[in-house]
Amino acid sequence: MPAMTLDKKEVFMSELRKGVQAVKKGDLSYLVNDRQRMIRFQPWLGDSLSIFYDLIMARSLFPRKFGSDMVLHYRILAQACVGVHGKRVLELGTGSGSAVHFLKPNNRYVGTDISGGLLRQAVKRFRQAGFEDTEFYVVSANDLPFERASFDLCLCILSLNFFGDTEKIFQGVKQVLATGGTFLCSIPVPERNRLQSRIRGTLHSEMEYKQICREAGFRYEPILRENGALLYFKAVKQETRK
Ligand SMILES: C[S@@+](CC[C@H](N)C(=O)[O-])C[C@H]1O[C@@H](n2cnc3c(N)ncnc32)[C@H](O)[C@@H]1O
Repeated sequence: MPAMTLDKKEVFMSELRKGVQAVKKGDLSYLVNDRQRMIRFQPWLGDSLSIFYDLIMARSLFPRKFGSDMVLHYRILAQACVGVHGKRVLELGTGSGSAVHFLKPNNRYVGTDISGGLLRQAVKRFRQAGFEDTEFYVVSANDLPFERASFDLCLCILSLNFFGDTEKIFQGVKQVLATGGTFLCSIPVPERNRLQSRIRGTLHSEMEYKQICREAGFRYEPILRENGALLYFKAVKQETRK
């Protein structure tokens, strides 16, 4: 994990866990390590290539890899977010800011991604969409730096397969979600991959996601829509039994 010496020292607070140090550089916040260095990552799509991201999604990933309709994708997610107003929303793997297509701007939105290049695009997109209460962190979904119960909704759209240890991600999300909070996911699953395309990362079946949800203390709620290789579901955080 490459680190960089600090050149901006604007210490930043908000929903960060006590003891976590961060700095803001431009529109993005970065965590700081023990040696006072900004933590950066090496994203799969290098920062310089991130300008092609939307084109790759529209021309390649949706039609050719997933066999999915992008317009339908956002319609399904918008339907899943009906009634989401004035909430504290976290997204894992924000990318270039696709959530503006289905999330209302009257929510507080905290975007996270390991790619600063993509997050900078997301910043612009959220601004244009009229979001007024946002933060964007260059952090890994594998190590969320936020206080317990800081969010009502966590989004993870087409990103879960990139994070590696899915069970660990669910544990992390459980920490930062309030009880009754929702983890809304969209993810390709092998049993719907009728084009037999090679999809990067760790893939699980719907059955496996159900089990991961149950074991992590979430109630699995399927979203009964078909869109190529994509599965849509909500995982609702259950009250912890004493
Ligand atoms: C296929 S893109 C999906 C982006 C966006 N949610 C969308 O629907 O367009 C996957 C994203 O996950 C991000 N990513 C990969 N590994 C990550 C990690 N460990 N933590 C946070 N984000 C990560 C990538 O940089 C990329 O933006």
